[in-house]
Amino acid sequence: MLGLKVPKKEANHIRLLLQEKSILNHNWKIKRSQDYVYLPLDQIPDNTLLNEMGLDNGAVVDVGFEEHKKRPRNMEDYLQGRIPPEKMDEFKKSFDIIGDVVILEIPDNLEEEKYLIGEAALKFTKRRSVYRKKSAIKGVVRTRKLEHLAGEDISETIHREFDSRIMLDVKKVYFSPRLATERKIVADQVHDGDIIIDMFTGVGPFAINIARRPKLENVKIYAVDINPEAIHYLKENIGLNKVQGKINPLLGDVAKVLNDLDVHADRIIMNLPGTACEFLPVAVEHLKPGGTLHYYQFSRDFEDPVKRVKKAAYPRQVEILDMRKVKSRSPGVWHVAIDAKIGH
Ligand SMILES: C[S@@+](CC[C@H](N)C(=O)[O-])C[C@H]1O[C@@H](n2cnc3c(N)ncnc32)[C@H](O)[C@@H]1O
Repeated sequence: MLGLKVPKKEANHIRLLLQEKSILNHNWKIKRSQDYVYLPLDQIPDNTLLNEMGLDNGAVVDVGFEEHKKRPRNMEDYLQGRIPPEKMDEFKKSFDIIGDVVILEIPDNLEEEKYLIGEAALKFTKRRSVYRKKSAIKGVVRTRKLEHLAGEDISETIHREFDSRIMLDVKKVYFSPRLATERKIVADQVHDGDIIIDMFTGVGPFAINIARRPKLENVKIYAVDINPEAIHYLKENIGLNKVQGKINPLLGDVAKVLNDLDVHADRIIMNLPGTACEFLPVAVEHLKPGGTLHYYQFSRDFEDPVKRVKKAAYPRQVEILDMRKVKSRSPGVWHVAIDAKIGH
């Protein structure tokens, strides 16, 4: 490797000159001896420049420089050279961070590299635990299998969403941080005094976000879930967020819970996009005239969910207030939101 041998007292001035001419090689460490400094070169300086520096061709020497260790700046940098390049593209860098927990999607053909990827995620996110998705979200309680990859195997955590704190166990309950914006959109529509039914509340992120909003002192939220673990964490979250008295946690099948409960709501949240349609009749039955449904469905378009809402509400009038694509579910299929006002 070529370098420029310069007297110690000239070294700083010459280094700046080489830098200015962009011929100092920054990948290698500058070397020093008692009287000389050796500057790594990108190219040999021409005679004019050598003259300007008070040197001649003899100053260009072969030197064994030490390479600067490059610090990886992200997971991809870190994994470069550690997993085969052709597999790099297959590794989905998209991952969810829920509190102290990272949840990754790693395809099966990266099985051998999974722990390395897990360690990389741990290092670059600085979280406590890394898990890999081992199944799709399934079953009535909408959970998935997780495989522990790195860090501590602790799946309970507290996630921050806007100014709310949401405690949950990623192995036992459903929770998606990707719905944060949607929850804010709904919470922003709520009026003080509203009676709300959150039909599929999970650990209560919609309910907590609403109850935490300033100026909503008199909201009353009936938050229902069929998963006892979800209701356990909802109760924890009510305490954590100091919203006691605003949220009533109810365990059970929402159809049964509502039939046993004589409540009519100003708005009903139906975030169970796979099967919420089955609960539209019971929702309409418990919605006051002029109340709002926040209905969610997996769909390729808005027409189908709107048609279902209108059918369930008939003969009541339906005014569609808003329609949103909340997030992608699979190619061409969206988790869509319909805000619908149901009249008399
Ligand atoms: C997609 S998760 C939504 C949770 C929550 N709304 C959120 O945003 O995180 C759906 C929830 O509905 C609950 N669930 C499913 N069927 C139910 C039913 N028949 N009655 C009440 N809850 C139900 C599941 O246990 C799950 O927690």
